[in-house]
Amino acid sequence: MTRPKNDTFLRALLREPVDYTPVWLMRQAGRYLPEYCETRRRAGSFLDLCKNPSLACEVTLQPLARYELDAAILFSDILTVPDAMGLGLYFAEGEGPKFERPLREEWEIRALAAPDPYDHLRYVMDAVTEIRRALDNSVPLIGFSGSPFTLACYMIEGGASDDFRRVKTMLYDRPDLLHHILDVTSQSVIRYLNAQIESGVQAVMIFDTWGGALSHRAYREFSLAYLARIVAGLTREHDGNIVPSIVFTKGGGQWLEDIAAIGCDGVGLDWTSSLAESRRRVADRVALQGNLDPIALFAKPEVVAAEARRVLDDFHAAGPGGGHVFNLGHGISQFTPPEHVTALVNAVHEHSRKLRGRPA
Ligand code: CP3
Repeated sequence: MTRPKNDTFLRALLREPVDYTPVWLMRQAGRYLPEYCETRRRAGSFLDLCKNPSLACEVTLQPLARYELDAAILFSDILTVPDAMGLGLYFAEGEGPKFERPLREEWEIRALAAPDPYDHLRYVMDAVTEIRRALDNSVPLIGFSGSPFTLACYMIEGGASDDFRRVKTMLYDRPDLLHHILDVTSQSVIRYLNAQIESGVQAVMIFDTWGGALSHRAYREFSLAYLARIVAGLTREHDGNIVPSIVFTKGGGQWLEDIAAIGCDGVGLDWTSSLAESRRRVADRVALQGNLDPIALFAKPEVVAAEARRVLDDFHAAGPGGGHVFNLGHGISQFTPPEHVTALVNAVHEHSRKLRGRPA
């Protein structure tokens, strides 16, 4: 049984007592850090960086060298899974991710198969092993995957989309085909996350970035049902420790109770929800992760600190106690001034220590 020296993040997710609120940031390793840009240049491209375990390890550790973060997150991308399914991921300069072979024909969809994570995604498992060794049990390592629906959006659209016309047309016209894609993708995600756990990640997060674009009925049928299947298929314990799971549907605040009921340990919230209200809605069923507006980081450092305190106060307003992991409501912007993150992390640690023991 090897719990990290700083296990505050794991304790908060399991709603065990903590001395302060742990903090990490979605996309904490990324382009806002000059050292990241330097390593990416050395790697050649973003994808080369993801596929090189030593360099992926290097960038995973960069934000931890600068800030007192309470967790590391594996450096990779959610789209490595469809890439391993044969769709051909590439990044066009300034256009974001794209697939050479998006799913268009029924025969292509019927031919989809779940990849062996130890074969096609070996580089991810090697990165996990290397990062765990480098972390030397200082803080926990988070593994992750995209949700089946979010992955299907990219696989069907072939890249980013502002209206999800192709995936939603399939949803209405050929729900059987979309269910088939989601079914194979769910099996892929379960195997992929369990391989990450086996390789050493100590918590997992599922990013459902586009679930919030669905109608309320479609969300349950095409996203939540598959999130539930994944959570049920995850390895619960590894190396004598529980491996907690976090589910994050961006724009999914209205479905909080439903998400909390699928068996995950934590639910991620974007900045449109109140943490106090959310906490009252889920009672003690799950921990909550979030939810500062990432753009607040562009304000002056004193304002960043004040906004961080407001997020902590919001959580505390529903009563004392833990079960909160501080994070942004979505990924950090590439234009964020790095020194503003110092103000954020310090404010979270200082203010949450003060709130402990103070009546709500
Ligand atoms: O949090 C971390 O530090 C871990 C690394 C991580 C990346 N992507 C690195 C990345 C994680 C957890 C992701 C998840 C991811 N990737 C999501 C879900 C979370 C979210 O933000 O909603 C999605 C939708 C993707 C797909 C993706 N990858 C997009 C849309 C883009 C382009 C947009 C952008 O920010 O450039 C990427 C590229 C990407 N993934 C970068 C990084 C650091 C930037 C690539 C670069 O260095 O040029």
